[in-house]
Amino acid sequence: MREKTYCVVGAAGSIGRNVCEQLLVRGARVVGLAHTGMQCAKLEGEIKRDRFTSYPLDVLSCSEIASILGRLSMDGTKFDGLIYAVGPYLQSNFMKEIEKPIMGDDRYDHRFRVEQKLLCLGLYNIVELFFTLLKFRSRIVIAGSSMTHLTADKAPTWLNFWPHVMASACQEKMVEAIRHSEQIKVREMRVDLLQFGPIDTPFYAKILPEMMPKLLDMGTVIDAILGQLKDKGPSVTEIIRIN
Ligand SMILES: NC(=O)c1ccc[n+]([C@@H]2O[C@H](COP(=O)([O-])OP(=O)(O)OC[C@H]3O[C@@H](n4cnc5c(N)ncnc54)[C@H](OP(=O)(O)O)[C@@H]3O)[C@@H](O)[C@H]2O)c1
Repeated sequence: MREKTYCVVGAAGSIGRNVCEQLLVRGARVVGLAHTGMQCAKLEGEIKRDRFTSYPLDVLSCSEIASILGRLSMDGTKFDGLIYAVGPYLQSNFMKEIEKPIMGDDRYDHRFRVEQKLLCLGLYNIVELFFTLLKFRSRIVIAGSSMTHLTADKAPTWLNFWPHVMASACQEKMVEAIRHSEQIKVREMRVDLLQFGPIDTPFYAKILPEMMPKLLDMGTVIDAILGQLKDKGPSVTEIIRIN
């Protein structure tokens, strides 16, 4: 991956940070977009590579995206690939979130709206506004969730997971729409959605052991993402294990 440049959105998250590190190990140049300035400072302080730069960005703010687009355009940056790993994982508040069922509760509506915005609208904003920064035949890889393929009989009710299922289903449709858009086809770009089962991230460390499903190791997740960046076949929606 030497001579290649990638943009990682959600760079301070569990998946995003690992993707940044592994791309850098493989010789790529990486622009990491993290949610806040503090996250960027931490990332730059810890990663310490001259091929890594980061910018703070709220994917729901078109003006912030436009401003970063301006800065990157002035540098002449063009990306070989973009990885979207933004998501709400309720890390700090998780046990509180699951303490009682939320069906019919206002929080249900709130969680759905938050998740849907990040999984769909944020993705749309980034693809739409960063399009001019993506090279001919570049790759877009999205870290999504396999939860949307679980049937209710297999669903872990403790997770209060329906807002996440619905938002992920919307993301799947959104990706299909992006994939078949004229501009993606004309530029021969490829858009892959990888729908992961539960991954061994700090999120699950907060969950009681008896609730813990089998977890995917991060190495498998990163290999899958980097594999899609290099793959020359047609676009896919791939499900990486449902528990
Ligand atoms: N972890 C898993 O087990 C798992 C399993 C299957 C699928 N996935 C999917 O993979 C994606 C990433 O998961 P993850 O485990 O890496 O989650 P994570 O560790 O929570 O990382 C998500 C990142 O997105 C950032 N973010 C949230 N709102 C944002 C916004 N408006 N603008 C920019 N960035 C924003 C978060 O920043 P803050 O910390 O500031 O909110 C965080 O850095 C999610 O879509 C998730 O559904 C994860």
